[in-house]
Amino acid sequence: MKTVRISIIGTGYVGLVTGACFAEVGHQVTCVDNDVAKVDILRRGGLPIYEPGLGEIVQRNVAAGRLRFTESTVSGVADSEVVFIAVPTPPLPDGSVDLSFIEKVAREIAACLTTPKIIVDKSTVPVKTGEKVAETIKRYSQSKVEFDVVSNPEFLREGCAVEDLMHPDRIVIGVQNRRPVATMRDIYAPFDAPIVVTDINSAELIKHAANSFLALKISYANALSAICEASGADIQQVVNGIGMDRRIGRAFLNAGLGFGGSCFPKDLSAFIKIAEQLGCPFDLLKEVQAVNRRQMDRFLGKIKDTLWVLKDKRLGVLGLAFKNNTDDIRLSPAIELCTRLQAEGAILRVHDPRAMEKARAELPDAEFVPDMNAVAEGCDALVVATEWEEFKQLDLARARAAMTHPILFDGRNLFDPDEMERFGWVYRSVGR
Ligand code: UDX
Repeated sequence: MKTVRISIIGTGYVGLVTGACFAEVGHQVTCVDNDVAKVDILRRGGLPIYEPGLGEIVQRNVAAGRLRFTESTVSGVADSEVVFIAVPTPPLPDGSVDLSFIEKVAREIAACLTTPKIIVDKSTVPVKTGEKVAETIKRYSQSKVEFDVVSNPEFLREGCAVEDLMHPDRIVIGVQNRRPVATMRDIYAPFDAPIVVTDINSAELIKHAANSFLALKISYANALSAICEASGADIQQVVNGIGMDRRIGRAFLNAGLGFGGSCFPKDLSAFIKIAEQLGCPFDLLKEVQAVNRRQMDRFLGKIKDTLWVLKDKRLGVLGLAFKNNTDDIRLSPAIELCTRLQAEGAILRVHDPRAMEKARAELPDAEFVPDMNAVAEGCDALVVATEWEEFKQLDLARARAAMTHPILFDGRNLFDPDEMERFGWVYRSVGR
């Protein structure tokens, strides 16, 4: 294996996981972040985010001298052959992408470009951003040394980012010319995955197109769930049946409260905007968004249908994170549901295996319950809002005994309707 000297600008979620895993396979990695407090935490062996398996990898590679952290772009970039950009690309109010961090980093890299380097964009960016990055570096570089710009989008899912990085389905490398390809292959050689080499614009498009398609699959399942409810069919059986067609696949067809998180909503809006700006309106994706909004409305409607007036009703909510295995609550459907229930006057007792700390600020009026089996105490109904596996182990007998009437609204279809009925629950789920 050929060791490559790599620096990664931006030690957020993507930058840190990527840097740690590159070091793990033997590369020499410097992670740069201008947030001094964050760099401090990392230097002291801590982690600014929760991600299964990441802590061990960071510690092991720091100890082995393959991974270091700095707040100085100059020192990070100086002795690396390849510079990855992994800074945030947040949405602007109109849904388009704020590229100011990318532009700023491009100028910073230009300012310390003294030897030829490969500059790789890992952040999710609109098609044609690579061209702008190359132009900017050229404009601001004093030394006029040669450099290549590469697009190498990430496909990490929170909660299994390490696994996704170590065992990717594919690695996309977008280049302007062949020069940087060999080094990019050296970086990824230890990862057992097919490498797809494309032009830069295509690589950038692949990222938005992939995430939008996954969101579309979820909305497709959610739209189907409404039809199932209206027709007496069962969404689980339907998606299992269609998912067995290998052209369709079973993944990402789980109906529920809709998708959230820091990627899908943002990437969808961005892609709609990008398509519009290119003169190719992508209205299909607007419908994907609309289905996602309706799904939440329909679920709330179900709760109100059953409980009638929510004012002063006590509801126990299981799940606050935007999905399982993460403490992330950004654009979490669970938090939106809680907020809307509270707006109707409901009193909430909430629990999440990981996300309670982060959710406290969002839900100051809710009562946070550390034990999931204690959530039901004194409640008029229980609500499942996030697909945590451990909720399947809920002590249903204890919950039933603690409630006036055993009612459960399952926004993630974790329980078996027949069994719930057999145990005397009023059970309402999605699409069944
Ligand atoms: C996503 C992409 O999967 C990843 O490739 C990209 O790099 C970043 O965005 P992530 O945001 O971590 O990753 O979450 P993901 O696991 O994709 O789930 C997104 C949302 O969809 C969650 O709210 C989840 O609950 C929901 N979802 C997922 C469903 O409602 N049904 C499904 O079948 C799958």
